[in-house]
Amino acid sequence: MCGIVGYLGHRNTMEVLLKGLTALEYRGYDSAGVSFIQGGELKLIKRKGKVSELKKAVAEAGYTLDSDKGNNIHAGIGHTRWATHGAPSDENSHPHLSMNGKICVVHNGIIENYAELRRFLTKKGYVFASDTDTEVAAQLIEYYYERRDESDIEAAVRAALQDIIGSYALVVLCSDIPDMIICAKKDNPVIIGVGEDENIVASDVLAVMEYTKDVIYMEDNCILTMTRDQIEIKDIFGEKVEYKTEKIEWDADTAQKGGYKHFMMKEMFEEPKAFESTVISKIRNNDIVLEGFDVDAEYLSGIKNINIIACGTAYHAGCVGKYLIEKLCRIPVVCTVASEFCYSDPIIDDSTLTIVISQSGETLDTRNAMREAKNRGSKTLAIVNVIGSTIAREADNVIYTSAGPEISVASTKAYVTQLGVMYLIAFKFAHILGKLSDDRYIALQKELLDIPGKLTAILEKQNEIQRFASTQFNADSIFFIGRGLDYFLSMEASLKLKEISYIHSESYPGGELKHGTIALIEEGTLVVSPITQPELSGKMESNIKEVSTRGATVLVIIPEKLADTAFSCDVKFIIPNSDELLTPILGVLPCQLFAYYMAVNKGCDVDKPRNLAKSVTVE
Ligand code: G6P
Repeated sequence: MCGIVGYLGHRNTMEVLLKGLTALEYRGYDSAGVSFIQGGELKLIKRKGKVSELKKAVAEAGYTLDSDKGNNIHAGIGHTRWATHGAPSDENSHPHLSMNGKICVVHNGIIENYAELRRFLTKKGYVFASDTDTEVAAQLIEYYYERRDESDIEAAVRAALQDIIGSYALVVLCSDIPDMIICAKKDNPVIIGVGEDENIVASDVLAVMEYTKDVIYMEDNCILTMTRDQIEIKDIFGEKVEYKTEKIEWDADTAQKGGYKHFMMKEMFEEPKAFESTVISKIRNNDIVLEGFDVDAEYLSGIKNINIIACGTAYHAGCVGKYLIEKLCRIPVVCTVASEFCYSDPIIDDSTLTIVISQSGETLDTRNAMREAKNRGSKTLAIVNVIGSTIAREADNVIYTSAGPEISVASTKAYVTQLGVMYLIAFKFAHILGKLSDDRYIALQKELLDIPGKLTAILEKQNEIQRFASTQFNADSIFFIGRGLDYFLSMEASLKLKEISYIHSESYPGGELKHGTIALIEEGTLVVSPITQPELSGKMESNIKEVSTRGATVLVIIPEKLADTAFSCDVKFIIPNSDELLTPILGVLPCQLFAYYMAVNKGCDVDKPRNLAKSVTVE
């Protein structure tokens, strides 16, 4: 969802802006633009569509992206927009200029009272060129800027923020002060890359890590004034705020495709390594060490119930977590989609532990839900991939998934690491509570240690899935069915397919199909069924018969040890054996590969599916 980059320094500014926007493309967007100061004047180039369209427009306007040359531009801001107020169009793209042409802004977030502010400004004679809420901010800053005796753009931004209700990462450039960028933040991520004779502000580290590894994570309700050699952060009352500079641990190469056709494929191939860095690294001397979360018997004695909150793929990891914790620890767990949580009047007090799962650590629904849980007295534990993200900073405790940067919108390796952490938590809690014997605890750790090798074995036979997908990609509708843990696996498999191939799909508990949805099964309908739970395999066999006798084509994903069972399916994809509790970690990879090849066969934009954003920072 929207990406921001702002640069002041010695490099080719246009190149830095466009490279930054390219690095932020993965967040999801439908138009892009840049604004910069040249010869004391603010200039603007923006286009509906991809950053490649913007690049063409920049070249047509005579600017070079060659790093050895420059365009005599030393200050600029850029933006990728995911439309909210106003359709994707050249006019609605950011940046937005104020009426006198001196002030330019890019914005992530939503100005909730924009209609009221627009009416106020219209009465004052302001004319608007777009339908966006953001243009209101540009005009409002100009309004306050013009009313002051001396040029004080920072004070004008501060005054405008007093009127604005909503969320924002707002970056402002003013032609009167060409060597300065102002940025205000509330509820939207902003990081500042600190360089030598250059500084850069952006929505995330991917846009800055080529230039510097030193970053500042900006806090809410703060205003940054930045020149190429100075950084000052104040609160909204103008008081200076202390900040600390931290090091980015990710390597710039990890955010490249590295020879793979798509990031999604690369990221699936990184699953064994990501699982190792996240899970195996926490298994030491027959024990699980949850760095960042010093849990012991005393802590757990105070926990009477657990909430798990997340969105999308992370929610599906949460569902598996609920199953594991309840089964192994006998603690009641509620797993809720974050966007519903605040409105469900949840039963929470200080004996509740709320576990929040988020790859980005910035999903607004998840953040709001975590804040609500905190307000109601809950303890909070975040499982997050992006270090320094808002959720990571606001939770009482954090366990990081070390998946590295995940660029493809469809989450794959991050999901597998989230699952891994849920297993670690469930095993650790159950052992502390005395519900898992030492022997079983150690045996389960051994099973976890074997997972990376088994994921690699699945990747080695990915061509089986590729072949099957090449016969099925014209399907109109696909059903995923499973029982127990396999039902949660089906939910994730169905979501993955929908996200990137745009094929309609449903996931259903195996036993529920006959209560309605089986009406949709007809000759040739594809049904995919993971069957990894031995005690449920007999029941699944009946469910598969129910659909195959009605003409369905059935793909079963099944561990070696169950593979001889005479399922009436058309195709079996065999995964390695493991303890049945852990098999869903293996079962999801063939489903991800299936979604990938279906999308590739259909010619879809796998890494950047239509309408979706990687990091969703609106409610
Ligand atoms: C978006 C993405 C999903 C993701 C969800 C939660 O909707 O498109 O792939 O699962 O957000 O993201 P998070 O960063 O909180 O895990």
